[in-house]
Amino acid sequence: MANLAELKKTFTAKFGGTEEGIRSFFAPGRVNLIGEHTDYNGGYVFPAALTFGTTMLLRKRNDSRIRFASENFPVEADVVLETARLEKEHDWINYPKAVLVHLAKRGYTFGGYDVLYLGEIPNGAGLSSSASIQLVTAYGFMASEGHPIDRVELALVAQESENQFMGVNVGIMDQFAVANGKKDHAILLKCNDLTYELVPFQAKGYKLVIGNTNKRRGLVDSEYNARRAQCEQAVAYLREAFPDLTLLGEINAQQLKDNEHLIPDETVRKRARHVIEENDRVLKSVEALKGNNLETFGKLMIASHESLKNQYEVTCKELDVMVEEALMVPGVLGSRMTGAGFGGCTVSLVHGDQIEAFIKTVGKRYAERTDYKADFYVGEIGDGAKEL
Ligand code: GLA
Repeated sequence: MANLAELKKTFTAKFGGTEEGIRSFFAPGRVNLIGEHTDYNGGYVFPAALTFGTTMLLRKRNDSRIRFASENFPVEADVVLETARLEKEHDWINYPKAVLVHLAKRGYTFGGYDVLYLGEIPNGAGLSSSASIQLVTAYGFMASEGHPIDRVELALVAQESENQFMGVNVGIMDQFAVANGKKDHAILLKCNDLTYELVPFQAKGYKLVIGNTNKRRGLVDSEYNARRAQCEQAVAYLREAFPDLTLLGEINAQQLKDNEHLIPDETVRKRARHVIEENDRVLKSVEALKGNNLETFGKLMIASHESLKNQYEVTCKELDVMVEEALMVPGVLGSRMTGAGFGGCTVSLVHGDQIEAFIKTVGKRYAERTDYKADFYVGEIGDGAKEL
């Protein structure tokens, strides 16, 4: 957690004035437990918000300028919303700018502000540092203006701004989890209609351990958009059997099996199989968790990674090595990559007594087998965006 007293001092040192009128907001990062690359296919996902994230301090100004600064990055900017556009040199500031521009498009008005961020999420690690910046901004600005806060709307606007302003075709999972997370609960979200259920994460002595490969997610934008296009191709082929089909998540494994021959391209067929089988795994995982059947939950995590590796082909050597090594440690029920892939993090279900041994052994073996050093975080599940 950020030290608010210190952050307020930095704020006044940077922007002048007193601490009066400064308000503080927080939005978490997220970890996805299972259901990867299913969101933009209208399928199920099962993410949870983390206890670490982005803190934002803001204070109203008398003009319409918005001044952005961060404890993490040197780039600062002075923005007027009416003329704001994507600017490469604005770097991270494009995220908060984009979300405010898209809120303004919906008719919400904003005055001028001084704004300071402090991020605790490693960037490019697949723990949604960008969704966290987007949501803390959306939530904090809406609250400061006294606009009504609808968390689902904020998540949708953040996603829209990333798709249209930033040009990356992400699904809704990250923004939704960051907006709607709840302490000690994972979120079962059905992405085609955004209905969701908060499921208590009771793991009888087991903990989620996040392993950061420290391999930044290279190529992720182009490969991500390519996977989306392949899923759309699969839908187009399958329409011969299901004329109204719009998203892969609308059919089940048996329906795909019976009609796979309609997809002539082996790669596209593999992509479709992953999405539909992964969807099924999400529902089975939730059932397992509710029934306190953690062994089954762990097995489904392992199957998810295998499928992401062999059918969806979004893992990389570093993710595969980390999962392989994790599964050799006693007391580990499951392990898989989490997020978009191509680098970033894994999540493992580890017995509380084994966490130290896990971090030591996996860290050592990972460093021996790759060119990177790993970092580990014990993943406590926290709340979604809020005022501090
Ligand atoms: C990224 C995207 C999400 C989702 C995952 C893969 O995190 O932002 O929308 O598609 O990848 O499951």
